[in-house]
Amino acid sequence: MKVFSNPTQNEIKFAAKALKDGNLVAFPTETVYGLGADAENEKAVSRIYSVKGRPADHPLIVHISSVNQMSKWAIGIPDYATKLAREFWPGPMTLILERGGLAKDFITGGQKSIGLRVPNQPLAYSLLIEFELLGGKGLAAPSANKFGAVSPTNCEAVVEELGISLDYDDLILNAGQCEIGLESTIIDCTSNHPSILRSGAITESMIRNATGISVCFDCNKHKVKVSGQYVSHYSPRAKVIVGKFALPGQGFIALNSVPTPVGVIRLAAPETIEEFAKIFYKSLRAADQLGLKHVAVCQPEGDGLANVIRERLSKAAFGRELL
Ligand code: TXA
Ligand code: MG
Repeated sequence: MKVFSNPTQNEIKFAAKALKDGNLVAFPTETVYGLGADAENEKAVSRIYSVKGRPADHPLIVHISSVNQMSKWAIGIPDYATKLAREFWPGPMTLILERGGLAKDFITGGQKSIGLRVPNQPLAYSLLIEFELLGGKGLAAPSANKFGAVSPTNCEAVVEELGISLDYDDLILNAGQCEIGLESTIIDCTSNHPSILRSGAITESMIRNATGISVCFDCNKHKVKVSGQYVSHYSPRAKVIVGKFALPGQGFIALNSVPTPVGVIRLAAPETIEEFAKIFYKSLRAADQLGLKHVAVCQPEGDGLANVIRERLSKAAFGRELL
């Protein structure tokens, strides 16, 4: 496995060719790093599952360069989904649509729907364009972590998660820290109301404003399998505690305005909610790197991204409670 840091255009072309040849390429998006494979290549896609240790029936998101590629992968696209795509792509939003002919069972986990996303990250965009120039139609890319672990938001975290599982010809493209730091909003568009399956930076009110239709939360949960819906997910090895009370020797993550309890190891002190989101996963990883047994996270108040952080936090915390 090779790492290309701030890759040149030639290196991006090389990575696109590597993908076309059936290798895996981890790449940055504005949300988290993805582990990419040619979405039409069953063998390459099956390696994503083995490298991640992910159950084979969990569907993958296909990443495309623009809204124009949508109809290659999806059919029967409702008007409100087209509105969402025009409004929020490229951006941190995944649309679940009725699948078209290109979307095979090995991508959709046997479901009749397909997840599509146009990422908003210059390197991801160049990679998708170069891949499409070689005849590629889309990149299957889950977050570049082991199943159930915290998503990587920088290159070091990808290496830590998957470095030893990747092969000689696989690549990692490094463009530093992801801008948003939390996974995309997943919106099920297979019925006449949009339904949020996983929260993210595109919020319910943004969806309502863009479509003029009210949003349903988890309405179609029974219909689809979303791994992020597992209560235990996004977990570091350290036990995550929700609240502002931490004991000496424990890690602590809270907004800058929250004072550090005596003897506690402050892992992050973001000034804004956006900064909190951006460094949240990195800070959870820091707890593991320091070998901490516990990390207390003081949840931010408010809507939007604060809401998303609280949701991810409860999953990270619940995951460890089970052990
Ligand atoms: O921000 C993101 O979405 C990142 C970046 C790399 O794009 N990707 C990501 O992928 O988080 P992943 O595989 O870690 O999470 C995607 C979720 C999974 O829980 C999967 O089950 C769900 O999307 N999903 C994908 N296709 C689906 C489908 N057809 N129906 C229902 N859920 C689907
Ligand atoms: Mg994931």
